[in-house]
Amino acid sequence: MHRAIGRSWQARLAEPGWLLLPLRVFLGITFTFAGLQKLADPAYLDPASPTSVQRQLMVFVHTSPIRTLLSPFQPHPGMVGILIALGEIAVGTGTLLGLWARLAAVGGALLSLTFLLTVSWHTWPYYYGSDIVFVVMWLPFTAVGSAGVLSLDAWLDRTRGHDPGRRAWLRHGVTTGSAAAVVLATAGLTAWIGRAVGRHAVPRQSATGSGYFAGGGGTTVARMDEIDQGSAKRFTIAQSGEPAWLVHLPAGGFAAFSAVCTHAGCAVDFSTSDQEFSCPCHGAIYSAASGAVLGGPAPAPLTRLSVRLDGDTVRVL
Ligand code: FES
Repeated sequence: MHRAIGRSWQARLAEPGWLLLPLRVFLGITFTFAGLQKLADPAYLDPASPTSVQRQLMVFVHTSPIRTLLSPFQPHPGMVGILIALGEIAVGTGTLLGLWARLAAVGGALLSLTFLLTVSWHTWPYYYGSDIVFVVMWLPFTAVGSAGVLSLDAWLDRTRGHDPGRRAWLRHGVTTGSAAAVVLATAGLTAWIGRAVGRHAVPRQSATGSGYFAGGGGTTVARMDEIDQGSAKRFTIAQSGEPAWLVHLPAGGFAAFSAVCTHAGCAVDFSTSDQEFSCPCHGAIYSAASGAVLGGPAPAPLTRLSVRLDGDTVRVL
């Protein structure tokens, strides 16, 4: 009996569908979770949040190698954000259910490739970014789908054998429509709950105040002795991938700002001699001490980030 079960599992592991099942479950759960998490996060579609899709799109149209493809979508960031979240959920549930599994895998690979060319493009070394791994993980499923294992596609194909023709397609359509209805209802409920629970917790960055924060958290950006007074260090904000500057002020103390120009999203440069940030696109000038606009077309100051001095390190929130 024991030997029979052992042989049966050995035989199954020789089949691609069973061999790839753990990876398929992981991808399905991860993409479904990622989509639901975006919809549940009130900051995701809030233009005032540094992690919003609006803010990220503004950065990517200047930093991504596919910026010409992204530019037409820049005026519609909300739509882009919702489509990305729903796309992730559709890909994830299709993969878990084995419904249109190859199509879901192609969608997953394209989404991951888009994230690789935007969010992860400047990650170095390249293997520190997860999106390149996701692109590769999707590839076998674009060829075999669910390979007939724990799959609605396989079940529908079997029933089609007894009942070919229009009724079989109707059954496939009804199954797909039912799954889509459940997914949309779950997505809507998730978005509603996320906003009801988290509407007071949307993280915003302040352009005013001292710029220092108390308590834990934040990301270590530099050692205090690493940046000379009057100099600055460029870094990347972990949550949004956008560029930022940490300035060691000439009078002492530190200040940090998003490097995203508030005019149209180019990354600003720092000038040690002028103690200013300047935008290479249309000439906006900002104070390196406060982020205030000193000249040019920028409509608002640079977004100020909170700084904490922790021992001999500088942390930014
Ligand atoms: S994008 Fe900076 S001045 Fe236009």
